[in-house]
Amino acid sequence: MASADSFGFLLRQVSRDISQLISSTKDILAIIGAIYAAKKTFDISYGAYTLFKNHLRGQISPLNLEKSFGKWAVITGCTAGIGRAFAEELASQGINIILISRSRTRLQREANKLEQEFGVETECIPVDFSQGRDIYAALETKLKGREIGILVNNVGVMYDYPMMFTDVQVERLWQLVNINIVATTMMTQIILPGMVERGRGAIINMASSASLKPTPQMSVYAATKAYIDYFSRAINYEYKSKGIIVQSLMPFYVATRMTRFSDALSKPSLLVPSATKYVQHALCTLSYSTRTTGYWPHTLQWWFLSLIPENIYMWGAMRVLNALRRQTHNRIRHRSGQKGSQGSTGSMSESDSTTIEPSSSIGSISTIGPSASSSSVFYSATEDSQSNLASMDKPHVKFD
Ligand SMILES: NC(=O)c1ccc[n+]([C@@H]2O[C@H](COP(=O)([O-])OP(=O)(O)OC[C@H]3O[C@@H](n4cnc5c(N)ncnc54)[C@H](OP(=O)(O)O)[C@@H]3O)[C@@H](O)[C@H]2O)c1
Repeated sequence: MASADSFGFLLRQVSRDISQLISSTKDILAIIGAIYAAKKTFDISYGAYTLFKNHLRGQISPLNLEKSFGKWAVITGCTAGIGRAFAEELASQGINIILISRSRTRLQREANKLEQEFGVETECIPVDFSQGRDIYAALETKLKGREIGILVNNVGVMYDYPMMFTDVQVERLWQLVNINIVATTMMTQIILPGMVERGRGAIINMASSASLKPTPQMSVYAATKAYIDYFSRAINYEYKSKGIIVQSLMPFYVATRMTRFSDALSKPSLLVPSATKYVQHALCTLSYSTRTTGYWPHTLQWWFLSLIPENIYMWGAMRVLNALRRQTHNRIRHRSGQKGSQGSTGSMSESDSTTIEPSSSIGSISTIGPSASSSSVFYSATEDSQSNLASMDKPHVKFD
């Protein structure tokens, strides 16, 4: 009897403890839920605030770039796309431009346009950044002593279209490293000390939203852009107390020569702006954010994609980029067929210089680096495109 009593007592005790545990677990879960909801509310409110701060404030009260940073800007990769749009937008604000790209002809054409349209001074320096270390001593000599207030490290290359790592030609891998990573690092190394001396300056580095997460089919390109982002953030931290802004710009797709592999990405739209529209937005963010997509619809895209777990993101990217590559595959076949039937291989219309000349003065040109030729499949049905086409047919390349 006594043992039955004690068993009943024990049972009541255990069930009371369990119900207490359940109610305190409920309390704990309620607290966790409240914290989570508060955090999400804070994130959304902070996101809305940063959207306003980074993207709208600059539109409402734009910065006087010349007053803030100085009279001269250097822009790499400025004869097309985003770089050209930067040159035009900065010149329209009265900034003199030092233009750096490969093609002497295109540089001079762009410089003439800036001088005539905006009445600014220009200087052209033809350089092929794919040549690596050898070009920088001459570049440094040309830029020495110049009061450069803004450096736009824009030059960059991607593959001709998304592809698997082993299908990327070795030459393109070197270009990706030399142009996307080395050029930005060395241009900064040449120009930043002068900015530090003067106590003011802005460096805009073109990273990319491709580095938001690892991106299959653009593996090396995305990795080079992750470097640019990390590099920019670190040196911004190092030099912000010296009056220098280093901005990491991370756009999604912008309709330029680089996105010509896809019809959809070649037509400007809300999510794929033209280079001019993109740069007009991006420049307004300069003093308000040191790490931004530069364009508010891209920032919304960034938020949405940040929520997706990495594996699902990569699975989706693989599928989307496979589809884009398949489109490109068909276009190259179609174009090769057309060229073949016309009996022409096609070539770029503008030639590039191979000379190395001494330092230039305003309005003049000299060239650093050997001949540059474009390998883009969209200028011509080149050997490059044929071999890429062949590599796309390798059995391990799987189209969905
Ligand atoms: N378009 C996009 O969707 C997108 C998205 C995110 C980030 N980005 C980044 O934005 C930057 C600009 O891209 P974009 O789309 O404007 O490219 P783009 O239209 O292909 O223009 C590239 C520019 O770089 C120059 N260039 C190319 N190779 C060069 C070399 N070896 N040496 C010197 N100059 C060279 C080209 O001029 P020449 O041919 O006359 O030399 C051209 O002016 C890149 O860093 C890119 O990664 C672009």
